[in-house]
Amino acid sequence: MRKTNLLGLFSAMALVPAIAGAQEPADHEITYAGEVSRIIQDNCQICHQPGQIGPMSFTSYEEVRPWAPLIRLKVLEREMPPYQYDSDIGVQELKNDWRMSDEDIDTLVAWVDAGSPFGNQEDLPGPKQYPVVGEWRLAEELGQPDHVIQSTKWDVPGKGQDMWWEPEVDTGITESRCIKAVETLPSAAAHGSTHHANSHFMVEDEEGEWVTYGRLSEYAYGKLGEKVPEGACRTAPANSKVGWSIHYYPDGNAVPDDQVSVGIWYYDEEDQFDETAAYPQDLRLYMLDGGGDYLIPPHGTLMTQGFHSFDHPVRIDSWQPHLHLRGVAMSMEVFDPATGQREVLSQASNWNAGWNHSHTYEDGFQPLIPAGSTIILTSWFDNTAANPRNPDPDQWVGAGQRTTDEMSHAWIAVTHLDDEGYEKMLAEKQEREQRTVATVGGVR
Ligand code: HEC
Repeated sequence: MRKTNLLGLFSAMALVPAIAGAQEPADHEITYAGEVSRIIQDNCQICHQPGQIGPMSFTSYEEVRPWAPLIRLKVLEREMPPYQYDSDIGVQELKNDWRMSDEDIDTLVAWVDAGSPFGNQEDLPGPKQYPVVGEWRLAEELGQPDHVIQSTKWDVPGKGQDMWWEPEVDTGITESRCIKAVETLPSAAAHGSTHHANSHFMVEDEEGEWVTYGRLSEYAYGKLGEKVPEGACRTAPANSKVGWSIHYYPDGNAVPDDQVSVGIWYYDEEDQFDETAAYPQDLRLYMLDGGGDYLIPPHGTLMTQGFHSFDHPVRIDSWQPHLHLRGVAMSMEVFDPATGQREVLSQASNWNAGWNHSHTYEDGFQPLIPAGSTIILTSWFDNTAANPRNPDPDQWVGAGQRTTDEMSHAWIAVTHLDDEGYEKMLAEKQEREQRTVATVGGVR
């Protein structure tokens, strides 16, 4: 709502030219050439253009117009753009947030309701530039990555069902370093069929077993690279391997010997972290379960929970829920036994296993968790015929690896804090929240 007020101010200044896509709906005719084309460019075209994963292209009025009623439905239900994160509960300040603003949704809906008019040719924006497929997006800012790790080759067929490729490869990292940024890059040829590609570090324990050390990178279609919050060291461990979990969904093009790459940018040795700083040094990604063993009855529903705590304060930097086809929702809460307070940090109540996002909290808005508080992950499952994604409501469904089994966990990036660092961050956060309340009249 903050945005409406600000923009209201702008349109009150009658001499300022109209800002496309940003007016209050209904005070003039909303047209494709005027506002809608820009909203589609900003929110949809990255996937809905030739050669990308969207099933239809939205690059012109002729292409968009026939889909107008379905577009109306999909944006109202917040199914498109595909980003499952509730807008009315929990932390709302996220990086790389794909959600559309309420204003843009209202504009699209009003346009469809008015019969989807074209408007004036001269109002049409020029074509939008998109990142070059197959090139590192972070390169513009950071140059080429310092280190690249590739999955082993896999023949992607032209046609078929979902398939998973889970090789383990040596990283070639000989000395542990702090990661500054990381990006996963599908090959240009298999760009349209690589739906997710997740990777994690593995190290050898004392018994010589390879064990998970922490998440390296998570890629879901359309995702940008990820920068590690300043002041935190996310370690790339020496003598490690990378375990991949790549989800291909054939798009019609066979790609023999495909490889997915992950690029790592390191901090320079000299910016290594000051051991005496009150601030955190160590950032790790954890997979926390949202309830262990469970069985969902045919035509039944289930809720599971997992509980986790740390014996020192932590800051949660990101949250990525993970469920399969019967999963319909997940939340992350924190319960503080010292105060009895329980608070929802993040929730996705229209979960869709086709999309996986790591929701990275905006700097300064990351939840701060005191020592001994409990992080509660709750998952909801619907094995009835009412769940549109349920392949077979007659089955018992348990936890497992196959797409038709269920999963219940979340990946979270955690920065470990010492008491002093925690107190300092908490004070800054409280001060900022007070400021926010004073200026916009209390959002949360
Ligand atoms: C990250 C890529 C991506 C973005 C961004 C995206 N879409 Fe899609 N869209 C898809 C894919 C893939 C499908 C087909 C699979 C599905 O429905 O999930 C799809 C399907 C659709 C459908 C057809 C649904 C059906 O039931 O046939 C519509 C309509 C649609 N998108 C509209 C939009 C609109 C409008 C936007 C922007 C406001 C948008 N999409 C943004 C990838 C995307």
